[in-house]
Amino acid sequence: MNSPVEQIKERLSIEEIVSSYIKLEKAGANFKAKCPFHNEKTPSFFVSPDRGSYYCFGCGAKGDIFTFIEEFEGLDFKGALKILAERAGVSLAQYSREKEGEKEKLYRAMEESTKFFEKNLEENKKALEYLKARGLEDKTIKDFRIGFVKNDWRLLYTYLRDKNFTDIEIEKAGLIKYPHPASPEGGGGELPSPLGRVGRGYDRFRGRIMFPISDSSGRIIAFSGRIFEDDPSTSSGQAVNQAKYLNSPDTPIFSKSAVLYGLDKAKESIRKNNFSILVEGQMDLVLSHQAGFRNTVATSGTALSDSTVSKENVVSNLGLLRRLSGNIVLAFDADRAGFNASSRAGKIALSFGMDVKVVSMPEGIDPADLISKSGTDAWRTAIRNSKHIIEFLLDKVLASHKDDMRKAGREIREKVLPYVDAVESSIEKSHFIKLISNKSGIAENALLEDLKKVQSELKSETEETKIATENVEKRMRKDPIERRLLGIAFWQESIQKKTIDPELIFQKLDKVKEIYKNIKEDLIYEAEEFYLDNENLQKDVKEMLLNIEEEYLNEDLNEKMVELKDFKDRKEEVEILKKIDEIHKRKEKIKNRSGR
Ligand code: UTP
Ligand code: MN
Repeated sequence: MNSPVEQIKERLSIEEIVSSYIKLEKAGANFKAKCPFHNEKTPSFFVSPDRGSYYCFGCGAKGDIFTFIEEFEGLDFKGALKILAERAGVSLAQYSREKEGEKEKLYRAMEESTKFFEKNLEENKKALEYLKARGLEDKTIKDFRIGFVKNDWRLLYTYLRDKNFTDIEIEKAGLIKYPHPASPEGGGGELPSPLGRVGRGYDRFRGRIMFPISDSSGRIIAFSGRIFEDDPSTSSGQAVNQAKYLNSPDTPIFSKSAVLYGLDKAKESIRKNNFSILVEGQMDLVLSHQAGFRNTVATSGTALSDSTVSKENVVSNLGLLRRLSGNIVLAFDADRAGFNASSRAGKIALSFGMDVKVVSMPEGIDPADLISKSGTDAWRTAIRNSKHIIEFLLDKVLASHKDDMRKAGREIREKVLPYVDAVESSIEKSHFIKLISNKSGIAENALLEDLKKVQSELKSETEETKIATENVEKRMRKDPIERRLLGIAFWQESIQKKTIDPELIFQKLDKVKEIYKNIKEDLIYEAEEFYLDNENLQKDVKEMLLNIEEEYLNEDLNEKMVELKDFKDRKEEVEILKKIDEIHKRKEKIKNRSGR
């Protein structure tokens, strides 16, 4: 029987998959579009139905249906496989427990924990009543798989041990902690050895309402727990001044800042409605979805507001949203932190060419409060009345300095013009200068002059954003052939009965091997999915090695062409031309060998 991967490839075409995300135009035998993986005005992204692949002449993104989903949705191979299998109606075989890799085990631990928390919520009337009082309906609680865990030391731990998870796995999933050696429970002194720690781990989440966080394929990868003491008398020694929300730590399946809460449920609706709503908290998100705004995602508090979160993560979150829609509405608390977070995100979104609006929230009210206290209609009205971020900031400045135009002018320069500077299009820039001039009475010329100064002041910040964006794009642009070949090599290296000598591949890809080491397990899994019991393995490897050789030769060729533009003397020119000739000959040979 065909493997799931082959079945999926037979059933789903590249143009079908790509066009379900972005608009494709016919271009001869191919299709073209504006590239979703970098910011561009004219289409350089091509889809070839014949070859089942896509290629962008602008940024070099390329691959098949699997890499497309991975890159578009920010998933690993398995996540993409899950999405495509569901779409194609292909069932993925359950792995035998022995074959289950580390990541699958962790996913399973998260799934089991979610079930445990859900069951506990059902049995705990007080927690359930609390959620109802906050306006949550039964269906919402179920859809979002919200749960609860009582305030005790080892409820989840014991449950997972009964399900045969090891201490190490439970710790790796971020579900237990060990007493700090210096604390009373830790006994002080040295950090205990892993063996000495057996049985001493305790639940990270205690006495909390539990929100599971999924990746965009719907797999649960983390939790966020909101404090809720059901019965203070059973206190397990929690400090009184604990964080209101506690999140999973970074684990092999979760990177704290690179995730948007609710994305798996929101992405369809963001595409359909052509805008996203970005809120801060879990409650905000859940209630906004319940109110019918399913195009809402949340930063989960940390992702965009925390200044320690790297710009790359903000960029990658916003990049993901931009691929779904260029329009975004920010709905953060009116407090300082909320404001700072939304302005930071807003500025970056503007520089991506997005249309950024801001919902004006009443002082001290967040979307959850607004929805539960004033109702769905109030929320709808607030969204409808959202203003472009520049107008929003401008109005705020003007309102607070009604009688002092000089001060207002200064504040406009400080607080508004940086956003005008961030706007990508110059046409729009001049539109906003006009708007500011009209509303404030400051002459356009004066504003333009100040804008120039702002521009040079913000040069390093702009540069930072640019570099972060390039890094994120580079990370996405992993060469699919390199990646497939190395996957096969790692896989063959790890098994006894080899069909291919891995060294054959490693030799050719020596320079890039290191880059892929950190996703080795993923690559092995991917190679196995593609080539287990596949009689084409040898033939395909041969073909791919030729392809990659050709690709490398083309890179060399480009380099030499550049050198040819400014050679030093006649002798050097001859040298370069000789090299170019050699490269052409080698390319010719490859063509003949592969029978093309
Ligand atoms: P808020 O403190 O505004 O909480 O934090 P909230 O959303 O209004 O909380 P509820 O409505 O009383 O439940 C906003 C968001 O910031 C993150 C959470 O994602 C929270 O929803 N946060 C907050 C943390 O991660 N840790 C914290 O200690 C507090
Ligand atoms: Mn709230």
